Amino acid sequence: MLDVILGLQWGDEGKGKIVDYFASKYEVIARFQGGPNAGHTLYVGAENKKVVLHQIPSGVFHQNNVNLIGNGVVLDAVTLRKECDTVASFGVDLKKNLFISERTHLILPTHRALDKASELSKGNDKIGSTLKGIGPAYMDKTGRNGLRVGDLLDKNFLTSYKELRSKHQTLLNNYNFDEDISQWEEEFFEAIEFLKTLNIVNGEYFINQKLNEGKKILAEGAQGSMLDIDFGTFPFVTSSNTISSGVCNGLGVAPQKIREVIGVSKAYCTRVGGGPFPTELHDATGEELRKIGNEFGATTGRPRRCGWIDLVALHYACMLNGVTQIVMTKADVLDAFEELKVCTHYKVNGKETNQVPFQMNNCAIEPIYDTFKGWKTQTSSNKLSSDLPMEMKNYIDFINKKLPAKVTYVSNGPGRDQIVKF
Ligand code: GDP
Ligand code: IMO
Ligand code: MG
Repeated sequence: MLDVILGLQWGDEGKGKIVDYFASKYEVIARFQGGPNAGHTLYVGAENKKVVLHQIPSGVFHQNNVNLIGNGVVLDAVTLRKECDTVASFGVDLKKNLFISERTHLILPTHRALDKASELSKGNDKIGSTLKGIGPAYMDKTGRNGLRVGDLLDKNFLTSYKELRSKHQTLLNNYNFDEDISQWEEEFFEAIEFLKTLNIVNGEYFINQKLNEGKKILAEGAQGSMLDIDFGTFPFVTSSNTISSGVCNGLGVAPQKIREVIGVSKAYCTRVGGGPFPTELHDATGEELRKIGNEFGATTGRPRRCGWIDLVALHYACMLNGVTQIVMTKADVLDAFEELKVCTHYKVNGKETNQVPFQMNNCAIEPIYDTFKGWKTQTSSNKLSSDLPMEMKNYIDFINKKLPAKVTYVSNGPGRDQIVKF
């Protein structure tokens, strides 16, 4: 059987922490999409040291499991190498517990340059990409040009690399984009030598064999459902399928193998980068959420846009993913607020709806809120559901009534043990 943990909003819901929390129950943790645009924050070891993972699955700090980077991921060898060094400094033996699918597409230095060139060309309409080369790498995958991890073992790799780089150069010239990438290339070639020393496997046989042996697998999502290439707020999205269907093509697992789909949502909502965000707060309350929640991007350090929880978008995400349970994170961030709001409907061009519209950025969306009394008490050391304040329970009970899945855990701090079964 296979369970999935994925984000229900616009990313940064706290997936990394939740995957790390549940990882000890599973034998394999597998990333199925995205790349180093992800930043998953964990606090590990006896000293609770902060680690941000971009490419390696968040189960890597557990003794008794193995981690797989699936074929649906796009891999930056340079980022991976640095991350491997960090992880190894905690005593983790990556030769033993990290596996990479040979079908995983590589991010080349020219993909990063193309990402930059494409964003620059968009001017005010820019996506706010992390500029990690994600879009161009996935374009080369669907355009049937890309190079994969397995290709590194081919004696003609350098020729294929040069051919693709030359195609990219033509595109860069069209953009009038000129940047010296020789340093990136040098790092890239060093990093792929390192990558070749890791366990490169046939990911689909690897994972299906584990399933046949009765092993428990946890698939870890990156980004969030509202950044999905098909169902997110297009074009302000990422370039992969972030929803549960991405597990099947991102790992080579059949749909009937999927059991639980655990959706992670903040108790409020954030977004980093451009694009529509109906419940965004441009006032002092938004500022306070950012400050208390420390809402700055784990990958780029950019301030995250903050707002109230959006049940229209969450309901949509639950529907698309087949969410079976919800983990609500950062509930402690709301401790200080007198009053909380929950968006239950949108008014789109003056008409009330509980559906996410086709285009969110070309229409006037007004969120309609229910207002709740805040709990105004510190909750970050609570261990049991019975310890949680009544106002928090009311807030969650209301959300539970509106969504097709229930909140089963409430995370009340960034630490490993700061989580309450609800
Ligand atoms: P991810 O990309 O979904 O893994 O999330 P990020 O790591 O980008 O962002 C989540 C941030 O919130 C990180 O800094 C976490 O350490 C932090 N965090 C996670 N859960 C909680 C929580 O319950 N309370 C608080 N205060 N912080 C949390
Ligand atoms: P995790 O896994 C939040 C956003 C970017 C930008 C858009 C496209 O940490 O939740 P891309 O680099 O994919 O071309 O960027 O998507 N974005 C994320 N936002 N969390 C992430 O990952 C994100 N990955 C991409 O800010 O708006
Ligand atoms: Mg993140």
